[in-house]
Amino acid sequence: MQTPSGHPVESTAHARLVVLASGGGSNLAALLAAHDNPGYGARVVGVVSDKPDAGALDLAREAGVASVVVAPADFADRAAWNIGVSEAVAVFQPDYVVLAGFMRILAPSFVDRFAGRIVNTHPALLPSFAGAHGVRDALAYGVKVTGCTVHVVDTGVDTGPIVAQTAVPVVEGDDEATLHERIKVAERALLVETVGRIAREGLRVEGRQAIVG
Ligand code: GRF
Repeated sequence: MQTPSGHPVESTAHARLVVLASGGGSNLAALLAAHDNPGYGARVVGVVSDKPDAGALDLAREAGVASVVVAPADFADRAAWNIGVSEAVAVFQPDYVVLAGFMRILAPSFVDRFAGRIVNTHPALLPSFAGAHGVRDALAYGVKVTGCTVHVVDTGVDTGPIVAQTAVPVVEGDDEATLHERIKVAERALLVETVGRIAREGLRVEGRQAIVG
């Protein structure tokens, strides 16, 4: 981009991110810490949670980012909730939707609406230990290495094409909490790095391959 006098100016273009979170929001916090850097290429423009007391909502408020609660109890049934979540996200006109500890399954209609633009962070090395208890299940299985995965969301549970992964060792004496904390350190770094790359370079899916750039 150039000014009328021909001087280059820094581009202010950035990808619009909507983050869905159910929990404390440490992954959201990491994205919020990154997004003020103009070189990051993405901004969190909205946060959506299914839990009215999610810490992620406090983080959004503190950062001056708009947030919306879509609690299932406020909807007549699952179908109405599906529409509610989809509309709540669409209002922000996201380029990408980031599931950062969002503990509900999104309907195929949601996945179709934002197809190829939804990424999820999972605290295990997919395809191993998919589902809500990835850390517990890996520990119970006795693996010596686990980790975290950022993947494109499809209509399955943690089955979409993998964008990036980091391995994390299991240490003797680990319980679910200590292992999850170690994974979350790696997970935050991976999510911030991967979402930034996607925002700056784009994301496409060819079969099982998720390609950034
Ligand atoms: C993350 O490990 C995420 O992968 C899992 O739940 C955790 C959420 O952490 N599903 P936070 O709310 O971002 O701190």
